[in-house]
Amino acid sequence: MSTGSLLVGDLLLTILAAGGWLGGGAAAAVRRRGLARGLAALGLLATLARAITIAALARAGWWFAAEKVLIAAPLSLVAVVVAGPRALRPPGDIRAVAVGLLFAGYATSAGLLVTVLHGYPASAGTGLLAVAGVVAATVVTWRALGARPPRAASRVAVAVVVVALVTGTGLTAAAGGRAPSAPHAHDHPVDRIAAEPTRLFTLTAATATVRVSGRDVAAWAFNGQVPGPELTATVGDVVQVTLRNRDIGRGVTLHWHGYDVPNGQDGVPGVTQAAVLPGEEFVYRFRAEQAGTYWYHTHSVSDVGVRRGLYGVLVVRPQPPTGLDLTVPVHTLAGLALPPARSEQVRAGAPVRLRLINTDSTTHRYALAGTAFRVAAIDGVDLRGPTPLADTAVLIPAGGRYDLVFDAPPTPVALLVDGRVVFSTGPVSTATGDWPLLDPLRYGVPVPVPWSRYDRRFTLVLDRGLDLRALVPRYAHTVNGAADRDIPPQVVRLGDVVRFTIVNRSQVVHPWHLHGHHVLVLSRDGEPAAGSPLWLDSFDVRPGEVWEVAFRADNPGVWANHCHNLAHADAGMTTHLMYS
Ligand code: C2O
Ligand code: CU
Repeated sequence: MSTGSLLVGDLLLTILAAGGWLGGGAAAAVRRRGLARGLAALGLLATLARAITIAALARAGWWFAAEKVLIAAPLSLVAVVVAGPRALRPPGDIRAVAVGLLFAGYATSAGLLVTVLHGYPASAGTGLLAVAGVVAATVVTWRALGARPPRAASRVAVAVVVVALVTGTGLTAAAGGRAPSAPHAHDHPVDRIAAEPTRLFTLTAATATVRVSGRDVAAWAFNGQVPGPELTATVGDVVQVTLRNRDIGRGVTLHWHGYDVPNGQDGVPGVTQAAVLPGEEFVYRFRAEQAGTYWYHTHSVSDVGVRRGLYGVLVVRPQPPTGLDLTVPVHTLAGLALPPARSEQVRAGAPVRLRLINTDSTTHRYALAGTAFRVAAIDGVDLRGPTPLADTAVLIPAGGRYDLVFDAPPTPVALLVDGRVVFSTGPVSTATGDWPLLDPLRYGVPVPVPWSRYDRRFTLVLDRGLDLRALVPRYAHTVNGAADRDIPPQVVRLGDVVRFTIVNRSQVVHPWHLHGHHVLVLSRDGEPAAGSPLWLDSFDVRPGEVWEVAFRADNPGVWANHCHNLAHADAGMTTHLMYS
């Protein structure tokens, strides 16, 4: 069973257990004997079954099980000891076991709340708060049911609640307080290169009405079009882009996704520059040293901004293209799919390169029908020894790019995205839905990892949790139990070899994206990468997965390091890599 399904299974068992105990207690309180016994037995069974799921999760990695082992399991153990015998051999008056069963329900629910609201890491503070909640709820129930708790027991309970609340709250606050402050816009002079520009562009951001599949859509656009103009350069060019904002009230910037520019050109508002407000402009300049397929997008309120259309393609070629060299930036604008289908004649034998770009916030599936092809590059970086593929689909994470190359056959070919034809040279069978998926970790020819020791290691555990520190409390997407400004930055020194362990303990995919660097994939779920070196800037970490990646810290500054499901990034899942 995959760790992702174990996480789901354990969650379902917990809900069953809590429901069984609570329902059983309630039924006992109203003297429904049969129902009470049945539900309590369900609670007991589900609780015992969790011993298996929790142990399996702990084996998959401590990050998946920490709070379950340290908080939920002890609570469940007490619940079973207290309520188990009562459920199995209830006394003549079933009402006498109501408090015991409800206690078990509270204990199980407390464990569930810890998992759902906080998760990893488990802290003593959280544990104490859970205990306080269980004891308080039990005492209140006792009273409400008119049962007479022994005086001493009540006193002890009140004392436990008070101590747990005070120390628990204190410990929780202290844990948060330790986070070093997240970076702010730095006041270094912008590190723009002095060289004379050889490629000049102007991008003006403005609200616009654009036409998609015959419908008028209110968008935010660069130069009135979605996607914005395709920016192209040749290796060695000095690219200069003037960004103007006409009327986007929430500000605009340009981030060169996957292009490892100097920090001052990275376009992250509040970190590398201030957002460009209506009437203002900002000039970006960088040397085009990396060839490949990239894209640009606003990083100001990025979720809304990119979704509404503030993005475009950046392609840097080693030399002018021969044959057909086509970019395919896939995007969903107001529910409509871009680009529209395009069909073109290609001379047989001509080299074709399709540059697939996913500018949405979720994964897309691409299938090239009618020809064998190779994946020449991923995230702008050429692969080593890519072999021909046929009838194989590729998944591209949010923000990611794949370059597919082939020589045009005399017969037609078609490119499909999630089953929709976006490019074709004629009619082709488009039954590609059951094709296997390419695993990029096993494609191409490997070389040994260039490092044997790592100067810094960081672990990022991705999850959901309650963020009480935000202006309005929110159910945030979290990293190590905290949301954006409260997540300590990853501090490195220039020249360090840095290793990241990225763990997804949530139920959704998180496409991870580090700015300013490509990372080398070392392993996924403990299995070493066995294909061509994979230097990625965007990769999907699926539920239950653990990725190990590494890079050399060679581009000083403060860099966003975030989930590229931009709604997640805006809802807390943004951290920073910072050079000391
Ligand atoms: Cu394409 Cu910080 O993002
Ligand atoms: Cu995410």
